[in-house]
Amino acid sequence: MVISKTTGDNEEYLDSTFASRYVRTPLPRFKLPEKPIPKEAAYQIIHDELLLDGRPRLNLASFVTTWMEPECNKLMMTSVNKNYVDMDEYPVTTELQNRCVNIIAHLFNAPVGDEEAAVGVGTVGSSEAIMLAGLAFKRKWQNKRKAEGKPYDKPNIVTGANVQVCWEKFANYFEVELKEVKLSEGYYVMDPLQAVELVDENTICVAAILGSTMNGEFEDVKLLNELLTKKNKETGFDTPIHVDAASGGFVAPFLYPDLEWDFRLPLVKSINVSGHKYGLVYPGVGWVIWRSKEDLPDELIFNINYLGSDQPTFTLNFSKGSSQIIAQYYQLIRLGFEGYKDIMQNCMDTAKALKEGLDKTERFNIISKDIGVPVVACSLKDTSKYTVFDVSESLRNYQWIVPAYTMPANAENIAVLRVVVREDFSRNLAVRLISDIERVLAELDAAHVTAVDENQKQVKKRKRSVTETQSEMVNKWKRFVNGKKTGVC
Ligand SMILES: Cc1ncc(COP(=O)(O)O)c(C=O)c1O
Repeated sequence: MVISKTTGDNEEYLDSTFASRYVRTPLPRFKLPEKPIPKEAAYQIIHDELLLDGRPRLNLASFVTTWMEPECNKLMMTSVNKNYVDMDEYPVTTELQNRCVNIIAHLFNAPVGDEEAAVGVGTVGSSEAIMLAGLAFKRKWQNKRKAEGKPYDKPNIVTGANVQVCWEKFANYFEVELKEVKLSEGYYVMDPLQAVELVDENTICVAAILGSTMNGEFEDVKLLNELLTKKNKETGFDTPIHVDAASGGFVAPFLYPDLEWDFRLPLVKSINVSGHKYGLVYPGVGWVIWRSKEDLPDELIFNINYLGSDQPTFTLNFSKGSSQIIAQYYQLIRLGFEGYKDIMQNCMDTAKALKEGLDKTERFNIISKDIGVPVVACSLKDTSKYTVFDVSESLRNYQWIVPAYTMPANAENIAVLRVVVREDFSRNLAVRLISDIERVLAELDAAHVTAVDENQKQVKKRKRSVTETQSEMVNKWKRFVNGKKTGVC
């Protein structure tokens, strides 16, 4: 379903100046045209409209990959017409997906024996992966409750208030209460202690984030695992953990191999990661990996007899493109551990340079951490003259897309700017961004001074006009009085 809004003007017809070379009749905007138009015209009309989109490489709002090697682009284009779900027809694509699942499961330290296959699936992105993981938790919890003869109609899930919207969607779509640990000023991730306090017999899992969307920070999954193990022992619950490693899953294993956040922790039963973020593939591809077969209830897997073979599937959508899966496999074998590590280190170094540049201006508080995903988030120290929203808007004049937003509950009074450093954001671009931010600050300062001056002038003008009016009246009166005598004041 598309809930569409008309954008811009309300004109019913589309026109394209350049395409008028090929076609002179205007096209209806929201209705199917009666007749075909030449392919050149169709291309040109759409191409021209797209010129008004932002430039992906300068879109620092997005975690999603905006550059890949031409060889990978070529592979994607050659498989763009393959439906992933036709597994019997495209068995090699299915095999490549299985290899990706196994490679990623090993990267996340899943306890997979040499002869065993990992349990996981490719998805359209982390959102679909999270829906699937959440469903598995819900169904497992319900099955257990039913077996114990206990009510199973009030499942809940514990997260930080900093979760991405897909968790709210999961809770809403699949009727699970979302119990959020609120943030506070200066602490922008889920506090494991408070999270464990919220856990009760109806909790299907606690979801921790490796790489918060808000500031790139890693949540302390190890501490969460410790505290939850203790609570489970005391209460008889067996509440598990899911790790939302949408952005951190392809960063932490390479940069912080000793950080324990994954299947090394016994309560971690599933992990999602976005292949299209630091997995370095164009959108949309994601992955969800389960610790073992026991963590994915059988009844959620559909064994379909489709196009001549029996296929097990656990996805929300049936058809999807194969190219992203193929591109993911390309990146995994092309880069290997060392290649990913170099790219992630480079991103972190660029993020560090950016932080230092922002620090030098003495105008920002940096709220992202040195350990996390390569994100720089900062708030303005002085918000009396203008806000980060003004800075964000002004940066658009220099083509940069840098989002500004307020933090979630209960830190809503903190507004931040966030830059996501991706592979294609070079050090040169970072230097350029810093100088453009300095320029924007100078412009906003100047605009503020002008506004203040203007305001003072207006005040003066208003005051003078009162004085002037008074003296004018006095003069008039004097003229009236004196006029009777000399006529000269
Ligand atoms: C922590 C986190 N989880 C989930 C998602 C959703 O990921 P996707 O866009 O791959 O569906 C995001 C997206 O930014 C994210 O940052």
